[in-house]
Amino acid sequence: MRDKIIVGNWKMNHTMEDTHRFLQEILPFCEVASQHHVRLGIAPSFLSLLTATQATSKHLLIYAQNCHALPKGAFTGEVSIPMLQEIGVDGVIVGHSERRQYYAETNVDCNQKIKSLHAAKLQIIYCVGETLQEYENGETMQVIEKQLREGLTTIEPQALRTMVFAYEPVWSIGTGRNASVEIAQSVCHGIRSILASLTNHEVAQEVLIQYGGSVKPENALQYLSTKDIDGVLVGGASLIPESFKALVECLWK
Ligand code: PGA
Repeated sequence: MRDKIIVGNWKMNHTMEDTHRFLQEILPFCEVASQHHVRLGIAPSFLSLLTATQATSKHLLIYAQNCHALPKGAFTGEVSIPMLQEIGVDGVIVGHSERRQYYAETNVDCNQKIKSLHAAKLQIIYCVGETLQEYENGETMQVIEKQLREGLTTIEPQALRTMVFAYEPVWSIGTGRNASVEIAQSVCHGIRSILASLTNHEVAQEVLIQYGGSVKPENALQYLSTKDIDGVLVGGASLIPESFKALVECLWK
């Protein structure tokens, strides 16, 4: 049986002090979650990453929200993978729709980051998802297949095994308009089938797939109870310790 994985994407929220306070409240709870085979993670801002890695236990994964594919160079404003490794970051979110939308990140950019992250042995959450227009045109699976094929070009099937995939329909992020469980399950099933065609059935069955987009404590369990959704990637509802805990506790309460 696959583990569950719940990750809070904090985006541009929480100062270092906020991060410290959040961790004080959440850390004892993380051990409880691990006993229930739930992997927990947060993705704070770059500045709060060190606060998080210094405070955290092995029961809470710390993700960066982005990275540069190259180890160093003249790239003003960027952060490299060796810099993240130096402070003990566990993994990186790649291809979040806000990165694609506001910073023009392409599937090819994602592919370069994924390759470098694999080489560095950091964990990866690769986000895919369609815009509202693509959804209304019935193009969801075509868009996602392209994101997967181009984003995973030349990645070894064995390397894919450890990756996490997040289906995040752009029209449901931060809008309160979450995708229905039926849609989310069916797209996550489709993602698993595409991954099987890129690798093999065994790898595709092992890979963890999350749903993200307006997930809240009130609706998390319905996604987490489906066959192909192994976790959730949560923005707004992950910022407050009580709400983050409630998202996780629904799995055993
Ligand atoms: P949301 O964000 O939960 O606030 O919709 C999800 C995400 O962007 O990962």
